[in-house]
Amino acid sequence: MKCTVCRGPAVIDLRRHNANFCAEHFLKFCRDQVERTIDDFDMFAPGDRVLVAVSGGKDSLAAWHILRHLGYDATGLYIGLGIGEYSDTSHRYVAAFAAEHDAPLITVDLRERYGYDIPGGARAARRTPCSACGLSKRHVFDEAAIEGAFDAVATGHNLDDEAAVLFGNVLHWHTEYLGRQSPVLAARDGFPRKVKPLVRLGEREMAAYCIVAGIDYIVDECPMARGNRHLHYKAALNDIEAASPGAKADFYFGFLRRAADRFDGEAEAGREQLGRCDTCGAPSPVERCAFCRLVERAGGAVPVNAPTLRGAK
Ligand code: AMP
Ligand code: FES
Ligand code: ZN
Ligand code: ZN
Repeated sequence: MKCTVCRGPAVIDLRRHNANFCAEHFLKFCRDQVERTIDDFDMFAPGDRVLVAVSGGKDSLAAWHILRHLGYDATGLYIGLGIGEYSDTSHRYVAAFAAEHDAPLITVDLRERYGYDIPGGARAARRTPCSACGLSKRHVFDEAAIEGAFDAVATGHNLDDEAAVLFGNVLHWHTEYLGRQSPVLAARDGFPRKVKPLVRLGEREMAAYCIVAGIDYIVDECPMARGNRHLHYKAALNDIEAASPGAKADFYFGFLRRAADRFDGEAEAGREQLGRCDTCGAPSPVERCAFCRLVERAGGAVPVNAPTLRGAK
C-alpha cells in the first residue's frame, strides 16, 4: 500500500477518500481537514483565543494538538468529574500532554470548586450520571469561557459522534434538535460560541492521528456511560459505511447543506426566554438555574453571583 501523495509506504487507508497516506501525509491530511472545517463554518480566526475542552480521550487531545499545530491560540480546559479511577487517569493524560507541549491548561475540579462529584451529584439530584455530567460540563465550559474572555469553546466531537446524534434525532423526529446540529453555535444570551472542529474526521482517523503523532490518551470509556444509546446508532452507521464508504459524511454534511435550515424555526421556538440565574448569574429560563439546583441538592457550595457572568451580554 503506497501513499497517494508521495508513493512512500502508507500507514493508513481511507476508503471514504479513496486514498492511502504515509505518516507525514496523514498528519497533514487531518490538519487540512480541520483547517477547512474552521474556514467553511467560520469557526474562529487566527488570533482568536480558543478554549479546548479536553477529556483525556483521543478526540479532544488530537483537537488540541491540531489547533496548536495550525498556529491557533488554544488553551485546554479539563474538568475533574470525580468518577473514581477513570477521572484520575484521564487527568494524568491531560496534564502530561500540557506539560509535554508546554500548552496552557485550566483545570476545574467539581469537588474542589463546587463541593460535589458526578456520582454523588447524580444520586442526590436523581438524575442519570450522564445527565448530571452533561449539565455540569456545559456550565463549566460556559463559565470558564466567559471568565477567561475566550472567543470560542471547542470540543472533540467527531464525524461519528455527530452523524450518530443526527441519526437519533431523525429516527425520533426530534425536530427542535435538528435545528441545532451545526458544528458552530454562535454566542448568544451570555453563552459563548461553541465549535466542533473535528467533524470532518472519524473515530478511526482520530485514534490513528494520536498513534502517529505520539499522543497518549485514555482508551477506556467512562464507566458511567455504558449502554449509551448512541453506541447503537454508531454501530448501525458503521455497517452502512462499510457497505457504502462515504455514506456517513454524505448523511451529515448533506443534512447541513440541504436540510438543516428548514428546522431553524423549530429550534428557535424551542428556545426558552432567558433571564439570569439569581444565584450564579448564568443565563437561565428560571430563577435558579439547573446547575445551581444540582449543586444545592448535592450539598455543595453554590457559586454566588459570579460577577463576570452577571455582566455577560
Ligand atoms: P462526551 O460528552 O464525553 O462525549 O465528550 C464530548 C466532548 O466534551 C469531548 O470531546 C471533550 O471536548 C469534552 N469533554 C468531555 N469530558 C471532559 C472533561 N472531563 N473535561 C473537559 N472536557 C471534556
Ligand atoms: Fe460524563 Fe461519564 S463522562 S457520565
Ligand atoms: Zn506520503
Ligand atoms: Zn445558577
